[in-house]
Amino acid sequence: MDHFLYRNGALHAEDVPVAEIAAAVGTPFYVYSTATLLRHFQLFDDALEGLDHLVCYAMKAASNQAILATLAQAGAGMDVVSGGEYMRAKAAGVPGDKIVFSGVGKTAAEIRLALEGGIRQFNVESEPEMEVLNATALAMGKIAPITIRVNPDVDAKTHAKIATGKSENKFGIPISRAREVYALAASMDGLDVIGIDVHIGSQLTDLAPFELAYQKVAELTEQLRADGHDIRRLDLGGGLGIPYARDNQAPPLPLDYGAMIKRTLGHLGCEIEIEPGRLIAGNAGLMVSEVIYVKSGEDRDFLIIDGAMNDLIRPAMYEAYHDIIPVVEPAPGAEPATFDIVGPVCETGDTFARGRQMPAVAAGDLVAFRSAGAYGAVMSSEYNSRPLIPEVLVNEDQFAVIRRRPTFDEMIKRDTIPEWL
Ligand code: LLP
Repeated sequence: MDHFLYRNGALHAEDVPVAEIAAAVGTPFYVYSTATLLRHFQLFDDALEGLDHLVCYAMKAASNQAILATLAQAGAGMDVVSGGEYMRAKAAGVPGDKIVFSGVGKTAAEIRLALEGGIRQFNVESEPEMEVLNATALAMGKIAPITIRVNPDVDAKTHAKIATGKSENKFGIPISRAREVYALAASMDGLDVIGIDVHIGSQLTDLAPFELAYQKVAELTEQLRADGHDIRRLDLGGGLGIPYARDNQAPPLPLDYGAMIKRTLGHLGCEIEIEPGRLIAGNAGLMVSEVIYVKSGEDRDFLIIDGAMNDLIRPAMYEAYHDIIPVVEPAPGAEPATFDIVGPVCETGDTFARGRQMPAVAAGDLVAFRSAGAYGAVMSSEYNSRPLIPEVLVNEDQFAVIRRRPTFDEMIKRDTIPEWL
């Protein structure tokens, strides 16, 4: 459920007409709904009720500080994967003891940053990383709390580019070697081994792969405890999918996911962390764009819009489907039209949809991409020297620009021309 609905024939973000935001900030832009963000966070928090738990929002999904502050004020922790994300989370007011640090390639500098500023735990992904973490912590006179990310070799049944839990993927240590790696970690004085971490992929629409992975984690917990490790925290990653098309069969709800967690892991008495990103932010955001031209091709019509692959790369990168709807509600019974929906960037990959049936729109009309809140703005670039597009946050009847559109000058002046030129 989200808070982007037609009212009196006009698409609204909560109580604000989307067209009003477009008039204020220009197109294209991203707009997020506070109520939707909070509702999705709350669904996870409620789903884990009864367990000692923390929902650590995977901020890679949408990392504007206003979004982070909204969620942090509701009690969320953060999952970060870079020094930049760590600094952003801190700047948004998230305390270090609610930040977990994931990722296969943490550098010594990033590790130092987090040890200095405070961290809930590092999710360690390899033995060499463990050595660097240990040495860095010792040199700083600190002890780093860690979980070790295990790779359970489970097929997440999602797009290959976002599956992470198979043995051929770069993530985690093979679960078959876990006891040996935990013994190594326990021998290092700069580390405090507190738990296990697992994350098998993103946009999962079935609970079965999660359950398989979590069962393996439950077995491993018992084994590691028998080996003398005090396993007291389980980080279960993110990955629960969202419905992108409205006629899709809805993926399992957070409540079902929470019940499955309780069933497979509840008996262990561990503190549970989860790292959802997409389900919190995905349907809490739209990308809004204006139709520049309707162009008739030989056998098709192109809707050329002012948003492009650099603003929302998911269709080009993952063949992802996004619902695209007009901002003015179509009249009942209006004849649909069929378009290839494309941006102005100079490559054929800059295609959002082919042969898409939708209500007819014309040049100057606004269209909204639904489910664009996660992995939208964060994955954008300035390809074709197109400035990053603004982000807007709505809260009931108010809206605020939470990242403004840079001017051409600001974009261009970041380059420096060497003196020999
Ligand atoms: N935790 C870890 C360690 C992760 O790697 C990820 C996502 C998450 C949590 C959050 O997963 P979520 O709940 O959002 O599924 N750009 C792609 C998705 C990449 C996901 C990467 N890792 C897309 O647009 O579909």
